[in-house]
Amino acid sequence: MIVGFIGTGSMGSILIESMIKTQALHPGQIVAANRTLEKAEKLAAQYPGLQTAATNREAASRSDILFLCVKPKQFKEVIDDIKSEVRESQIVVSITSTVLIRHLEEHLPCKIAKVIPSITNYVCSGATLTMYGSRMAQEDIFMLEKLLRHMSKPVAVSEEYTRICSDLSSCGPAFVAFFIEEFINAAVKYTGLPKEEATRLASEMVLGTGLLLTDGGFSPEKLRERVTVPGGITAEALRILSLDLEGTFERLIRTTHNKYYDELDIVEGLLYNPAGEMD
Ligand SMILES: NC(=O)c1ccc[n+]([C@@H]2O[C@H](COP(=O)([O-])OP(=O)(O)OC[C@H]3O[C@@H](n4cnc5c(N)ncnc54)[C@H](OP(=O)(O)O)[C@@H]3O)[C@@H](O)[C@H]2O)c1
Repeated sequence: MIVGFIGTGSMGSILIESMIKTQALHPGQIVAANRTLEKAEKLAAQYPGLQTAATNREAASRSDILFLCVKPKQFKEVIDDIKSEVRESQIVVSITSTVLIRHLEEHLPCKIAKVIPSITNYVCSGATLTMYGSRMAQEDIFMLEKLLRHMSKPVAVSEEYTRICSDLSSCGPAFVAFFIEEFINAAVKYTGLPKEEATRLASEMVLGTGLLLTDGGFSPEKLRERVTVPGGITAEALRILSLDLEGTFERLIRTTHNKYYDELDIVEGLLYNPAGEMD
């Protein structure tokens, strides 16, 4: 089986490296194309056997499964490049929330899947969100999920919830990292604790908290209650935190959704109005 990647930027390269590191694929099973070819060539130098393709068409013609790892505005150009090459038996996988399954089914004759990875997959952790088009047979789903399972937990979601699930699963690491950054900076500023020490403690804490919530049998509520002694220090800190955060997550979700719908309009403009502007 040959797995192709168009786009070896941040997410494309994370997927490639994770699949190699976890031995889901050996480098010889991967073909990579990128607008700036040097980026794909760098991966090929790092992982001997990994093949590069000089064009998107070539990557498409050589792949059984083809991951499209480009940004929403770049999809139209990639679809135009590959559509004459794609075969009905191939699986094309989009990793972009604003490119809908029906967009790809309307423009390409092959099987379509949407998979939203997360940076957590780089350490073989976290979920990949999965959604499948009507042409995907059970054995296609099985084959794709077998690949994904090496580096993540595939979680089937309904496409109408793509945005909110991506907020939780894929944007979440950035939100949590920001929270931790602020916590560390305040700790250093207020107490003089060395930043390295604060970072180490906070990072170990996040890892342990994640394990308690996944394997440890705790819900977020149960965990909070377990740590919080009524009238104690944590309880007082949480009272302040909840006052300060009031409405924050509603505003955050409203913002990501507004941006999603703006981006969806742009993608549809480009896909269905060929005169539309391109990135
Ligand atoms: N980052 C995340 O955590 C994350 C998580 C889940 C999903 N995603 C989704 O993944 C997609 C890619 O995001 P990213 O962060 O990886 O973006 P990125 O770092 O900008 O990578 C995009 C890559 O696509 C290449 N490219 C652009 N147009 C191309 C074309 N016509 N043909 C071939 N290659 C082309 C770019 O090449 P150049 O080198 O020439 O710029 C770049 O290397 C986005 O839709 C994003 O929503 C990202």
